[in-house]
Amino acid sequence: MILLIFLIVLELALFALAVNWIWHSMHITEGPFIYSRPYIIRWVCEHLQIKDGEKFCELGCGGAEILARLAKRFPQASFTGLEKNIIPFWIAKLRTAKLPNVTIKKINIYKDDWGQYDWFYCFLLVPQMVHIEKKFLAEAKPTATLLSYIFPFPNHKPYKTEAPHKEILYYYQTIR
Ligand SMILES: C[S@@+](CC[C@H](N)C(=O)[O-])C[C@H]1O[C@@H](n2cnc3c(N)ncnc32)[C@H](O)[C@@H]1O
Repeated sequence: MILLIFLIVLELALFALAVNWIWHSMHITEGPFIYSRPYIIRWVCEHLQIKDGEKFCELGCGGAEILARLAKRFPQASFTGLEKNIIPFWIAKLRTAKLPNVTIKKINIYKDDWGQYDWFYCFLLVPQMVHIEKKFLAEAKPTATLLSYIFPFPNHKPYKTEAPHKEILYYYQTIR
């Protein structure tokens, strides 16, 4: 009987640990592991004009669907995905393994040097936009462009917005 209770308690504890690990690996409070909608991904990949030699960075790249498509379309540009969570990181690594112009870094987006990139794309959450705005304005090149899907910066105004399928894409540059 005691053994049975012990086993039940052990099982419950393991279940709680597993739920906790999944919750944190998905980082529900910091941009959940869900993708930009397929029609937005298509739209972004069809409309951006990335020049040879330019560097594109996806902040929180998830499974790197956008990066993989853009990297095929613009083979002379380079693409970096920043992803801190292990499951999406490995999905992104596997998806882009055969694309020589893609690098996936397992890193917190705030720890990378944003001064090296010409383009940024993000689909994160409102609380994160405060920090992203601050870092983008402090570090990004004046010519760099950041696209944010759905969530705007709290202060700095976008120089352009687009609304494919009524979902807003905000375009930012540091100088305007
Ligand atoms: C909503 S998903 C978007 C995935 C992909 N960018 C897309 O649009 O399809 C947000 C991703 O950002 C990652 N993420 C959230 N906060 C992060 C941080 N501070 N550093 C690195 N990755 C982060 C999450 O793990 C998640 O994979």
